[in-house]
Amino acid sequence: MEKNFKRTLVTTALPYANGPVHIGHLAGVYVPADIYTRYLRLKGEDVIMIGGSDEHGVPITIKAKAEGVTPQDIVDRYHNIIKKSFEEFGISFDIYSRTTSKIHSEMASDFFRKLYDKGEFIEKTSMQYYDEEANQFLADRYITGTCPHCGNEHAYGDQCEACGTSLNATDLINPKSAITGNQPVLRETKHWYLPLDKWEPFLRQWILEEHKEWKPNVYGQCKSWLDMGLQPRAVSRDLDWGVPVPVEGAEGKVLYVWFDAPIGYISNTKELLPDKWELYWKDKDTKMVHFIGKDNIVFHSQIWPSEMLAYNGKGSKGGETGPMGPLNLPEQVVASEFMTMEGKKFSSSRGIVIYVKDILARYPVDAVRYYISVAGPESSDSDFTWAEFVRHNNEELAASWGNLVNRVANLMNKNFGEIPALDESEMTDEDRALLSETKAAFNTVGSLIENHRQKNALSEAMRVVGDINKYISATEPWKIKDNPARLGTVLHVAAQAVSDANHLLAPFLPHSAQKVWEALGGTGTF
Ligand code: 2FM
Ligand code: ZN
Repeated sequence: MEKNFKRTLVTTALPYANGPVHIGHLAGVYVPADIYTRYLRLKGEDVIMIGGSDEHGVPITIKAKAEGVTPQDIVDRYHNIIKKSFEEFGISFDIYSRTTSKIHSEMASDFFRKLYDKGEFIEKTSMQYYDEEANQFLADRYITGTCPHCGNEHAYGDQCEACGTSLNATDLINPKSAITGNQPVLRETKHWYLPLDKWEPFLRQWILEEHKEWKPNVYGQCKSWLDMGLQPRAVSRDLDWGVPVPVEGAEGKVLYVWFDAPIGYISNTKELLPDKWELYWKDKDTKMVHFIGKDNIVFHSQIWPSEMLAYNGKGSKGGETGPMGPLNLPEQVVASEFMTMEGKKFSSSRGIVIYVKDILARYPVDAVRYYISVAGPESSDSDFTWAEFVRHNNEELAASWGNLVNRVANLMNKNFGEIPALDESEMTDEDRALLSETKAAFNTVGSLIENHRQKNALSEAMRVVGDINKYISATEPWKIKDNPARLGTVLHVAAQAVSDANHLLAPFLPHSAQKVWEALGGTGTF
């Protein structure tokens, strides 16, 4: 049975600050998280949405090298660009911070140190790939090769993005340095490993038995990784950009970016609520929901929970000892699939991309949010096409919803100058049926959003819009000439139904919701 929680903590994958965010990112993670959060807020629930830029790791240093600037220059530039894009898109973060913040370095450092002091790491010296020309170890994206699991020839040293599997660089077939293209050599180095195998039985029980309700894309991937068996995972790197490993003898080593990034969810909560953050992370009545992209699943379902389990000790899932206790594991890990662009994979380097500022220069933000919600990669890969974008907007948003609001608002203004009163004695079964349908839709649409079936939720809301249109066509208020009480009642019912539909659509279309609210005579913030 679904547990009742008192509050919700929504986290969104922290995008690398090495380039602007594009429509693929928004469709996969941020718009769905925003819809979910806005819905809970409208329902009056206690919810916070946490975001921020992921500013460490090889993606940043590669970009800095390519441009001949410092990693700090890169993250300063892109953090601000990304933050602005989210604001323009109406992604209603309670905080959007960054992993180069002081709070975060301290939090990540303390987290590592706690695990270190508890003996949760294996310290191991091993042979790792090194580029003799570039004079550096080749961590993560600095090395590419063939994935031993699926044969993808462009897998990275820490993950194959084609099959999602997490890798160690030494697993790659035909490894190549991404800096010089050279064949790397092996050189000895010391690192700290988190033994994921220690937590494997716990993860099996927790995910495969207790979270059968997770979406099939997440559950299925977890099952296949757990069935393959988990291995110890290095959580430090030989790099000069990142949070320094806080132990003796670790000079020149930093935390693996995927070790520190999810800790950023905690740091950013603490930055937002310095005195109350533990309530959102540790109280048993808090529900944590991670919104992520498809290639982030392994990190949020195996590595990050193992970090938390190691932090908590004894395999505790958190929550049982009140606000000051161990960290809660997520109740849900919600991952989208991939979105392509006119049939091709989004790729900034190949120019297959739509940036927020470009699309918003031509179209209203809610038109884009609408199409993303209708056609996003919620449970299977999907394709962004301009033809479909225009069609959905013209045929549904403008013709069905926009037109309905205008018709009702104009009829009210022309005949009454305000929302007319309802005369009970004039009410017909048709009027009552419409209002009970719009009221019932709150449960249907709400429960679909709560179960992360936003496409169905939106089509249910649009079905209601269609029925309000049918009601107007059937009652023909423009033909009611000599019965002001009946005309007033029809328009009152229509206005009420439009207002209900506006509430149903508001999480998807927050900017238009405000305008519709005002068109119906509402004042203040919707
Ligand atoms: O895939 C990415 O863009 C990563 N920067 C996501 C990190 S999610 C979290 F752990 F912060
Ligand atoms: Zn693969």
